[in-house]
Amino acid sequence: MIPVMTDQCDVSPIYTSNIVVVVLSQHEGYHAAHAKLLKDKIIEETLAFDQNLPKFVLTHEEHLNGSWTYFPLIPILCSRFPKAEWFLFCSDNTAIKFQELVKLLDNYNASKEYWLGHALYDKDPTIIHHFADQPKKLKYPNVASGFAISNTLMKLLNNRLKIHGVPETDFSIDASYEFANYIFNKGNGTRLTHVPEFCGFFTANCVTYPKGFHACTNSVSRGKIYVAVKTYDANHQSRIPIISKTWLKHVKNYGLFSNVEDKKLKNVIVVPNTKLGHCAKTYAILQHVDKILQSQRIDWLVIADDDTIFSIARLTRLLTCYNPNNPVALGERYGFRVIHNDGYEYLTGGAGLVLSAPLVHRIVKSAACKCPRSTTPDDMFIFGICLNKVGVRPTHSPLFHQARPIDYSMDYLSSQEPVSFHKFWMIDPIQVYEQWFKEADYMLQSTWQHTEL
Ligand SMILES: *[C@@H]1O[C@H](CO)[C@@H](O)[C@H](O)[C@H]1NC(C)=O
Ligand SMILES: *[C@@H]1O[C@H](CO)[C@@H](O)[C@H](O)[C@H]1NC(C)=O
Ligand SMILES: *[C@@H]1O[C@H](CO)[C@@H](O)[C@H](O)[C@H]1NC(C)=O
Repeated sequence: MIPVMTDQCDVSPIYTSNIVVVVLSQHEGYHAAHAKLLKDKIIEETLAFDQNLPKFVLTHEEHLNGSWTYFPLIPILCSRFPKAEWFLFCSDNTAIKFQELVKLLDNYNASKEYWLGHALYDKDPTIIHHFADQPKKLKYPNVASGFAISNTLMKLLNNRLKIHGVPETDFSIDASYEFANYIFNKGNGTRLTHVPEFCGFFTANCVTYPKGFHACTNSVSRGKIYVAVKTYDANHQSRIPIISKTWLKHVKNYGLFSNVEDKKLKNVIVVPNTKLGHCAKTYAILQHVDKILQSQRIDWLVIADDDTIFSIARLTRLLTCYNPNNPVALGERYGFRVIHNDGYEYLTGGAGLVLSAPLVHRIVKSAACKCPRSTTPDDMFIFGICLNKVGVRPTHSPLFHQARPIDYSMDYLSSQEPVSFHKFWMIDPIQVYEQWFKEADYMLQSTWQHTEL
């Protein structure tokens, strides 16, 4: 073997073996494969320079709940790697130039409380951050760009967790923000240091950046997707025309699940109405659609609110990466008391979510999935508690969004290609569709016309 000489061999005091790479990975096949790919690539790159490899933690391999909220990882990382200098957290889609990262970290003293990454901040208070009224002060990391925590800060956090415990809040919504809030308030006021080489999107000087999404095969045929829209009579004339004019017109198979028939609308299916929670309504939708999926050999059920805004083109590309023969539940993951380890994770309904046909069937056949009350929150029960009981973990995609574009940092949104947004409140939904999704949908429309005629 010929050793590769580099100018940093004799100067770098950081040993790569003192870096722990923590990939926030998921069990689902596509995501697990990407996490493994990232690990293998770093190993390959490192071996060209150095026989000392970094350490790796792929969080889905740990016997742990809610590792995506970071809190449960801290004590484990501290006890397993007491001598590590840096902990690099990243997603399965983070690209890392590892040798350059080692050089970069060398500019910072790991004996100090450092937290390095790509900083985001809010212009205005936002629902996804519990309307915190000090938004400008709090920087939080773009997790797809990766972030590094020094050994000293990690130990401090571990001690604070022992003394103060995790935050009291029940809901985990934007884990990176909530973690930043904890570090700022409980970690001696430590703030995230914005390091430009931790990029929001690729440019020449980047050391890390989020990889763009690439479809795994040709896009899924629209005939393989059924969309169930949850609505009721008061929205028939206000919201349904808007979604019909924008994204729903690209959908081949759909049902508008409402409390009453409406002669002016196509495809209305009447289900029992619920004023709150909607568990009974969503359960009735699953029962109804299960039969359609079976008889028409449709692979995927998409459930949306009547104020969810989608790009169907991006959705059909995204679904190419998931196997419809497996029990798949895909959407935006929230947590209820996961940081206290007595709760569960669930897919939040407004963002829209996708279930594979075998999973829909499994849910309607399981006694454990019957709604406790008709007004139980449908997403928390069916796409949380019930999924748990039928042995399926929700798969998180950061491309689904429970809130409006203005509720997110622009810097974050420009680092990805969103698939959905939610809520018509104080925005023009047509304009949101046109700004974010129209071009993508129209580009795919020409393909649809060729392949599906
Ligand atoms: C994870 O949560 C489930 C309940 O949802 C519980 O049965 C299990 O023991 C938890 N696992 C760990 C490692 O705490
Ligand atoms: C790093 O920080 C520690 C603690 O503040 C200090 O004792 C040490 O001298 C620093 N090392 C360097 C190389 O600056
Ligand atoms: C954090 O702050 C506390 C009190 O302000 C101080 O006693 C402690 O030494 C600090 N910890 C570190 C690691 O700097």
